[in-house]
Amino acid sequence: MDKYLISGGKRLYGDFFVQGAKNAVLPLFAASILTKERVVIDNCPSLLDVTNMANILESLGATVTREGNYVEINPKNADNIEIPGSLAKELRSSIFLLGSILGRQRCAKIAYPGGCDIGLRPIDIHLKGLETLNVDIKDQNGYIYCDATKIRGGNVVLDYPSVGATENVMMAAVTAKGTTIINNAAREPEIVELQQFLNAMGAKVKGAGSSIISIEGVSSLHGAEYTTMPDRIVAGTMLICAAMCGGSVTVHNCRSNHIQALISKLQQSSCKLDIFSDRIELVSTGRLFSIESIETQPYPGFPTDLQAPIMAMQAVSCGTSIITENIFETRFKHVPELIKMGAKIKVSSRSAFVRGVPRLVGTNILAEDLRGGACLVLAGLKAEGTTEISNISHIDRGYENWEHQLTALGADITRRSNN
Ligand code: EPZ
Repeated sequence: MDKYLISGGKRLYGDFFVQGAKNAVLPLFAASILTKERVVIDNCPSLLDVTNMANILESLGATVTREGNYVEINPKNADNIEIPGSLAKELRSSIFLLGSILGRQRCAKIAYPGGCDIGLRPIDIHLKGLETLNVDIKDQNGYIYCDATKIRGGNVVLDYPSVGATENVMMAAVTAKGTTIINNAAREPEIVELQQFLNAMGAKVKGAGSSIISIEGVSSLHGAEYTTMPDRIVAGTMLICAAMCGGSVTVHNCRSNHIQALISKLQQSSCKLDIFSDRIELVSTGRLFSIESIETQPYPGFPTDLQAPIMAMQAVSCGTSIITENIFETRFKHVPELIKMGAKIKVSSRSAFVRGVPRLVGTNILAEDLRGGACLVLAGLKAEGTTEISNISHIDRGYENWEHQLTALGADITRRSNN
């Protein structure tokens, strides 16, 4: 497993270019098998999660060719209906292939994706939504068997605005006879991306971005070419990084309307933000006011994927901050590692009470999940001395070419391979 070696305390200056959105391309890959024609996805980030999704598509019979950030998918022979357990375990979000396999084949066999580093990750809302479309679902020995031969449009009500469940129902419904309404749909920008992609393929989807999405079933979908939106979580991670390290950084390919909740918190912490249509310029002294309260919520609330990164910033801010994680049940695994660096944090149930300290001290720490790992990189960049972060394959799942872009900003970060 690779490690990062970071010599901290450097201020950052220059330009950061945000990659394509991981959590947008993964459902787009899944949606590509809803047609038998060629699909092109551009601005696709080169990440471990994308490679895993490409492998799953190939196990279904599609061919995937990638040249940098340009991906061509030929789904003509993607007629398998089973996602092998080994691949489903590799990529939790393979679950939303269920909707697209059903949309194409009308039957599917998929292993329970199971929990992961940040929680149990149940799929009850996914399955209830598909059953409302008259999909017959049985589970046996860790597999889910779905029969969608009688699928038809329906009035779906999601008990919770689950991103994955919204995406699954959308993909199953686009070729189902009749009209589907999804009530209490997730409102994330990635849902809007999926609507735009599906409509580029000839689907009739409206309302994404609001909590009510309507889908008029069509008989078939054709190929499409699509360029993915920038990754709002990577953009947010880098704004937090620049704010806590100090300096002056311009984050390019950044849509401010996707991260309003973060921007408002950063403005409370006294760093200076100049917001343009496609970039944000941030200037910071590196010593910030603590943000009194941060509560993660479904979009457009504060994103759970930025909870760990902003905790690194609060750990070195002046004052105290209460960070409450309302979305996932075990998303504080970065706390013990921050404490090893000298952070003052107490966790009680879903809240972390952070008292800012003047400095963190580098040491050997462990990445336990994707965003928790990103938090530790930010802490290492700020800390005095050297920080060694192990298990950085977690971080490679979501941040493309990160150490090279950070080095270009003046950070001292290198990758060490263990083998
Ligand atoms: C998506 O996960 C993202 N992943 C996550 O990003 C993100 O944190 C999450 O949405 C919330 O924004 C991708 O898009 C690939 P959910 P998803 O279904 O779809 C519970 C990252 O770091 N729930 O909205 O799995 C669930 O347990 C990743 O990039 C049920 O109880 O999120 C969780 O507590 C991490 N039953 C909450 O809802 C269900 O059937 C939110 O889950 C489904 C979900």
